[in-house]
Amino acid sequence: AAAARAALESLVVDVPDFPEPGIVFKDITPLLADHTAFTAVITALAAVGRDESGAPVVDKVVGMEARGFILAAPVALALGTGFVPVRKAGKLPRGTHAVSYALEYGEATLELHRDAIAPGDRVLMVDDVLATGGTARATRELIESCGGTAHGLAVLMELGVLAGRDAIGDLPVATLMTV
Ligand code: PRP
Ligand code: MG
Repeated sequence: AAAARAALESLVVDVPDFPEPGIVFKDITPLLADHTAFTAVITALAAVGRDESGAPVVDKVVGMEARGFILAAPVALALGTGFVPVRKAGKLPRGTHAVSYALEYGEATLELHRDAIAPGDRVLMVDDVLATGGTARATRELIESCGGTAHGLAVLMELGVLAGRDAIGDLPVATLMTV
């Protein structure tokens, strides 16, 4: 398991000073381009939506625009569920729930189609990175606004220093690597 994790980590490339000086960007595109690694990541993220016997226990998989889409859609197929997008403000064409949250500078708004989650649905949230937890917390609120239940959050990478888990509330969080 440790060797497998090291192999995945070697495919996440640190890019200093992107998008601005002082920020080290974690570039996952080499991992996505490697079929074996991408498959391993999707299998591991999908496991969060299964019980001990391996049976799927979620009704929907939600991905957060934009990088979450890349991972959440194949996770949904692996689990045999539909995929639901959470999008940035103004992109979804029909009636939505919206949640705004604070960024380091300014504010962001995420939206979810009101009818995308049915009352009682169990929903797995999938994203690439958990940092402050703002994106995941807003997504959880959107799911709950539809009457659904967040089953858990599965992310490829967690920025451990930022304690994003604490922002999300009482929710299982599974991460493949902590950086
Ligand atoms: C990034 C990342 C996560 C989020 C994590 O998204 O993909 O979704 O930040 O940060 P948080 O835990 O502090 O909310 P971002 O909106 O920057 O860009 P993207 O559209 O490329 O996914
Ligand atoms: Mg994102």
